[in-house]
Amino acid sequence: MLNKFTGLVIVGLTLLSGCSDNNVKPTTTKPVTETTSQTNQIQVGKDYHSQSNPEQVKVTHIDLDLTVDFDHKVMSGYAELTFDKKDPKATSLIVDTRDLTINSVTANGQKIDFDLHDADDFLGAALEIPLPDSGNKVKINYATSPQASGVQWLTPAQTAGKKYPFLFTQAQAIHARSFIPLQDSPQVRVTYKATIRTPKELLAVMSASNDPNTERDGVYEFNMPQPIPSYLIALGVGDLHFKAMGERTGVYAEPSILDAAAAEFEDTESMLIATEKLYGPYRWDRYDLLILPPSFPFGGMENPRLSFITPTVIAGDKSLVSLIAHELAHSWSGNTVTNATWRDLWLNEGFTTYLTYRIMENVYGKDRYKQEAVLGYQSLEADVTNLTDKDQILAIDLRGRDPDDVFSDIPYEKGALFLREVEQKIGRDNMDAFLMEYFQHFKFQSITTDEFLAYFKKHVVANYPDKLDMDRINQWIFEPGVPQGAPMPESNAFSIVDNARNNWLNGEVNANQIDTQNWTVHQWLYFLNNMPDELSLEQLHDLDRAFNLTESHNNEIAHSWLLIAVKNWYQPAFPRLHDYLVHIGRNKLVKPLYKALSKTVEGKAIAKKAFDEAKAGYHPLTVKANQGFVE
Ligand code: BES
Ligand code: ZN
Repeated sequence: MLNKFTGLVIVGLTLLSGCSDNNVKPTTTKPVTETTSQTNQIQVGKDYHSQSNPEQVKVTHIDLDLTVDFDHKVMSGYAELTFDKKDPKATSLIVDTRDLTINSVTANGQKIDFDLHDADDFLGAALEIPLPDSGNKVKINYATSPQASGVQWLTPAQTAGKKYPFLFTQAQAIHARSFIPLQDSPQVRVTYKATIRTPKELLAVMSASNDPNTERDGVYEFNMPQPIPSYLIALGVGDLHFKAMGERTGVYAEPSILDAAAAEFEDTESMLIATEKLYGPYRWDRYDLLILPPSFPFGGMENPRLSFITPTVIAGDKSLVSLIAHELAHSWSGNTVTNATWRDLWLNEGFTTYLTYRIMENVYGKDRYKQEAVLGYQSLEADVTNLTDKDQILAIDLRGRDPDDVFSDIPYEKGALFLREVEQKIGRDNMDAFLMEYFQHFKFQSITTDEFLAYFKKHVVANYPDKLDMDRINQWIFEPGVPQGAPMPESNAFSIVDNARNNWLNGEVNANQIDTQNWTVHQWLYFLNNMPDELSLEQLHDLDRAFNLTESHNNEIAHSWLLIAVKNWYQPAFPRLHDYLVHIGRNKLVKPLYKALSKTVEGKAIAKKAFDEAKAGYHPLTVKANQGFVE
């Protein structure tokens, strides 16, 4: 096992200013203004987002016993932590907490004094527990707070069925500490067992073994035998029912959406088989989906064995199922090989985005993949235009920052583009062989960018001295922007869309004369996303009359259209806009709308009205991300 705490130091930002001759200057970025100083050194492998001490005492297993109390929005019970004393001189175990009430800590049945330190703004409060004289377990009796940042409590009215309450957790990046006292760092891997006690009529599911035939008696047992990082511990409780999709795949959802979800995602088993063929065995037994209420703040979350999925992608035509390919791909890139710190998130998301494209190509063909890749590239371009230079770096410096505030397409699409370039240079077969070995080599480990680079240099770059060079690779990883000459996704299916849009913009045709009959959802998105910033009211009416865009049932198309409507003050779409903002809590879909609305006084009033109405039903993350736009 590699030691992450060797104190190895690199100068984080020198690479920015030190462009060597081989490096092409980034194409689309502003000049770098950051200066380098000694104080700017990043300690590689150090997790700046945890106050725990795994280098001294590392937690290896957690036994949880929690009772879910919907009336008080509290979970209470205990977490018994099994630890491994790494440093013989260590005297205490330190774990992360946020907004937890610690009732007592015991070891071998005896109470021990603990110290709950003052809370840091976004890291929470460190809980220091003196090591017991004997044994390697401590039991923490605790309760969560109704405001726990990683838990959303939904009233019956906020669910699809309207009859039962619902609860789900979202731990990534640093929210597990708000519902379990633990070493909340992705470089600490634990196995876990859990007993979850719920009202009898509800079912609990976790990122662990779930028995589809379990008795619904309000007491549910779980086991996660593979060591996972804390951000992958997850729980959902509600009026959940199960429907199988394939031998190893199925869906959990509220009854009213179960069939629609199972139909939409019926290709999950094929995706699983395709991914295994490309990248080696699926190491997690079953792969199920949990469909959440629309307030789920993300598209999906790769909780092992049980991805959490937004219902907003159930479009009726499988057009948005790349989300499933993405969460499934994380079973390899992310869950099997994990980023050691949040600086290394691109190892999770960039690899996963690359794998997603490959899975989509495999299961749905080249055309579909190419269209999705162009759309991904375009959103990367937008980020490269809008983000500061330091936020365009794959191995990003997140010291002193809340990872929630730094969410962008950089780790995703730039990371994937880097891997696509490597693939193009060394050939697809060699790339596939490398990835298969990489997942095998680092399985169930958490690694840093530097560990990846050392491995990559030795096992790939060294074999292709004429095709790959470390200067360019360092440029990809440590510099802003996208290197000149990077692969540029293209799709023929979009040329006809460009033509149609141009002809319409030039006034050569009316919207209803455009032949859109065979357009894919992605062509529609490309059509709308590439409209000029300003359109006339007449043009907007023409589009809406011809295509009924305001009423689109596809949440992505509706999003793109509503964004155009806001920017051009197209009022007929505003009732739908209000409805959209109130019913959907997925941050990627609502944040750009709030942001665009916040640019004008009148827009802000509309935003505020929707936000005030929606707030009680939004997830804490969505509230935090959008509050600023309505103040
Ligand atoms: N693991 C991420 C979600 C995440 C990332 C949560 C960082 C917190 C911090 C998940 O796999 C993801 O990437 N979701 C995307 C999916 C999309 C790119 C297909 C989302 O939710 O939009
Ligand atoms: Zn992801």
